[in-house]
Amino acid sequence: MTELIYTRDYVELSQLAADNMYRTVTENPQAVLVLATGGSPQLAYRLFCEQVIRDGVDLSGVTFVKLDEWLGLSADDEATCEVFLRREILEPLGIPEKQFLHFDPEAPDAQAACDRFQAAYDALPQVDLVILGIGKNGHLGLNEPGENLVCNTHIIPLSQKTKTHEMLTHTSTQVTHGITMGMADLFRGKEVLLLATGGEKAHLLPLLTNQQITTQVPFTLLKMHPNCACIVDRSSFCNETYN
Ligand code: PGA
Repeated sequence: MTELIYTRDYVELSQLAADNMYRTVTENPQAVLVLATGGSPQLAYRLFCEQVIRDGVDLSGVTFVKLDEWLGLSADDEATCEVFLRREILEPLGIPEKQFLHFDPEAPDAQAACDRFQAAYDALPQVDLVILGIGKNGHLGLNEPGENLVCNTHIIPLSQKTKTHEMLTHTSTQVTHGITMGMADLFRGKEVLLLATGGEKAHLLPLLTNQQITTQVPFTLLKMHPNCACIVDRSSFCNETYN
């Protein structure tokens, strides 16, 4: 990683991430942000929204991009990344559809949805900030561990671990596949912010700090990104006690 930042807890991690998002959209009113969903960024998004609303920041030129999605759920299913981003970002900030780049979780032809999304993403002039969490198995978006990773947006079978993701506890539908932006898409970000927080991930800490890169732990590839900061929540990510 270009930079590893240790925070006392989830709140401090979230504030740093929110500050980074705020800086991005105030420095560039045409900014493009790629947004993960899940527990890792949730509080950061809430703090970001509070700051933007408090200061009356004009976001009319900003584009928000959905990183990934569970395949086969209806778009209004509570478990979707779609509902998450609408609830946490789009609705509080009054962001219109034209500023939201996403794939439809219930598109009849998922591959066509990937292709449409990719064409629109490729047409963006630049990507300023990519916000990512780390999966319990080290995945990035839904780029799952394996012998190979994929460059662009694609459909992917979920690992056993990912099928137990907390978001999926909110649906009765059995989800077996996801759609995710690929590794090259993520590397397009001028800046990448990796949020290391949440339970059952402490075993991944050595892979954050050592020199190794492996497709079996996809987030390790971010060590090759020229501007990737990782914020580590000591309280959940490190086995040690923070003093
Ligand atoms: P989480 O999920 O932020 O809810 O821990 C991260 C992920 O699975 O990518």
